[in-house]
Amino acid sequence: MKITICKSEHEFNVTAAWRIIAQMLEKPDAVIGLSTGQTTIDMHAIVSDVYRQYPFDVSRITLFNVDELTNLPRAYAGSCYTMILNQIAGPLGIPPENFIMPPTMSNDFEREARLFEQQLTERGGADLQMLGLGMNGHIGINQPGTPFESETWVSPMDPDFEARVRRETQVPAETILGGLTRGIKNIMHTRKLILIAKGPRKAEMVEKAILGPVTTDIPASIVQMHPNCEILLDADAGALIAGRV
Ligand code: GLP
Repeated sequence: MKITICKSEHEFNVTAAWRIIAQMLEKPDAVIGLSTGQTTIDMHAIVSDVYRQYPFDVSRITLFNVDELTNLPRAYAGSCYTMILNQIAGPLGIPPENFIMPPTMSNDFEREARLFEQQLTERGGADLQMLGLGMNGHIGINQPGTPFESETWVSPMDPDFEARVRRETQVPAETILGGLTRGIKNIMHTRKLILIAKGPRKAEMVEKAILGPVTTDIPASIVQMHPNCEILLDADAGALIAGRV
């Protein structure tokens, strides 16, 4: 694993943004997996800003997100589709056919999960997957306990996140919320992974995931086994591993 600990949050945002841009420049038909959440908002803004100032060819780039919420309207501001569309796919003008996302509503999510992976495979498979780190060690929406051989599926959300989504939406209480997420096996088959985390609240989980045992209790720990993985952190998130790796 390559470990990069940036001096500041800003340096982290810029470095992460340039990892995405570099992938687009190196391979003009790259298939790039993004990740939503607080961690990625600023880096996506920087990618969009650089593109606006110095446009480059993204006509053959494919973008997708590692996961998507289920049983909510796609237009909900917290859906991954809407976040990625507003933050990066829209500003870069990625054509809809090159923005691959599973639907938020379906009566057959197993089929949607298969189709999602199939579309990525048809494009030669994912070149890069940016991976946010959940407070409980989740990657995508694969919660602790998810088998490492899991394939793209609908997982329950973690309870805090689900409570927030319910507060922000008017979905009826009887609607089961979840998330269609690339499985851990699919994530591991990506050519390059970048696990990203910033802020002091992630420091403990970074230490466990990177220096602890590889265990399904901490899904992110599996990245230790990936042959081409970078751990990209700001100083706060990397505080407990700095000088030990
Ligand atoms: C959600 C997303 C994950 C993401 C995580 C990190 O759970 N489904 O893919 O990694 O948030 O969130 P944040 O960056 O807000 O800490």
